[in-house]
Amino acid sequence: MLALDNPKTKIIEALKKSPAMGSTAKQIAIVTDLEEGLVTAELARFETEGNAIRFGRGLWLPAAYEDVSALTGFVPSSEYDRQFKNDHKISFSQFKGSITFSSNHNRPVHRWSSYVQGFSADFVDQIIERHRVTRGDLLLDCFSGSGTSPLCAKLRGIDAIGVDMSPLMTFVSNVKTKLETKCLNVERISKTLSDILSTPFRARAEIDLPFLKETRNQFSRSALESLCAIRRSILAIEDESIRDLFLLGFSSVLIDCSNLERSPCLGYSKNKVANPLPPNELFSTKVKWMITDLHSVQAQEDSLGSAKILLADSASYKYRREAASLAVTSPPYANGLDYVTNYKIEMAWLGNAKSYEDLRNLRDSMVACDNVSRGSLEKYFDRRSLRVHDAWLDEILLKIERNVGSKTTFRRRDMHLVIKKYFEDMFDTFENVYDALLPGGKFVFVIGDSLTAGTYLPTDLILARIGRAIGFGVCDVELARVRRSGQRRNFKLRETIVTLVKS
Ligand SMILES: C[S@@+](CC[C@H](N)C(=O)[O-])C[C@H]1O[C@@H](n2cnc3c(N)ncnc32)[C@H](O)[C@@H]1O
Repeated sequence: MLALDNPKTKIIEALKKSPAMGSTAKQIAIVTDLEEGLVTAELARFETEGNAIRFGRGLWLPAAYEDVSALTGFVPSSEYDRQFKNDHKISFSQFKGSITFSSNHNRPVHRWSSYVQGFSADFVDQIIERHRVTRGDLLLDCFSGSGTSPLCAKLRGIDAIGVDMSPLMTFVSNVKTKLETKCLNVERISKTLSDILSTPFRARAEIDLPFLKETRNQFSRSALESLCAIRRSILAIEDESIRDLFLLGFSSVLIDCSNLERSPCLGYSKNKVANPLPPNELFSTKVKWMITDLHSVQAQEDSLGSAKILLADSASYKYRREAASLAVTSPPYANGLDYVTNYKIEMAWLGNAKSYEDLRNLRDSMVACDNVSRGSLEKYFDRRSLRVHDAWLDEILLKIERNVGSKTTFRRRDMHLVIKKYFEDMFDTFENVYDALLPGGKFVFVIGDSLTAGTYLPTDLILARIGRAIGFGVCDVELARVRRSGQRRNFKLRETIVTLVKS
């Protein structure tokens, strides 16, 4: 037998040709024409021998690919940090406290719906206190997601504006910030809930299913029947505020009732077991939490601030000039999550998207992620039409383009354009925030860096430099959390809190 025909050699060769994000055993089995079971067993053996690494959802890479920092021309974060500290005459500090959404699960109202990509209410409270923002001030969040910052502001009597491009997220944050008695009557909510739960439903799962082709694989038949019935009853509620509250409760239990997992990306997982409780029980528990929280919030409703949530593109939305004291946000990360795919289940069930085309159009108009369609990147070919001119970024984009070009296995060859679009979108957004802030107003954002096509991308520091180009001063860079790269598990990334000031 020729050495090349040896299954082990074939697997190693296929592994070496893996895209940057790795290959699954199944993908390797297809390209090598070998049995998937054999490939899985061989990969496990390579791993014990230290020749292959496994990460994420069953993805594999040759161990030798792990150490990207050994690549020629690789510029590590420490080098960017050194230059940045030198240029701006600042040192970095360590942020104490949690910034992730998980602590919100114990906080009234915040817990009504979970958002893996959200930040913590404790963090927003800390920033509000640090910058002495109080009643009468205005806070804005240009990527308000599930409404963490507008809600924190409102509960402290501060007025807030939140902008997000996702119709699902603006729906969620609208419901979470309309808490007053005039909108939501607690007795009526309880009565409506018992009416829904006591109505016998006819099992007709086939009707009203969302457009997603996979719906029947995503849920068991009984879960589908029950979910369709609950949704029908909710849509029949006349009181719009109660209907929306219930729709939020409904949407927040969908993943729990399904065979899917979001950790943080949406997908099937062998370990996922749909919650054994029937959907109506999960839904009613959620509404009962809502009732409990409304009781406590409404008891102090005279002290609430007002919150305005807008469905808009932050890159083009113009706020009232010089009105806000503080902007606090967590933007999407460069080469980061596809918010549309990740929340398509909720969007499809709530009718925020009615077709795959709706999902694609929304994705293409948001801050760029690596799933944007090629067509949406055309205008980024011409460098002259661009607004961001940053020496670090230019060099990084060249490296990404070269690295992608040197391998045939990258998922997309226009990765440098995706990153270019990301920073262009952020430039426009930052300029709008700058205009909206009062002189002396602070702009605080939480952001992660990334590793793209074997190139380190210090998104935090590049955004701070873009802020400088717009007119902001750099006040603070705080390191908040260490993360692992999805591409190279041993490569450490970070989450940073950057504070700019409108000087
Ligand atoms: C990291 S999340 C924000 C989470 C938020 N801090 C929270 O606690 O829920 C980023 C958000 O940016 C939104 N987004 C993406 N592109 C946008 C754009 N061009 N304009 C406004 N929002 C956008 C996404 O829909 C997503 O909700």
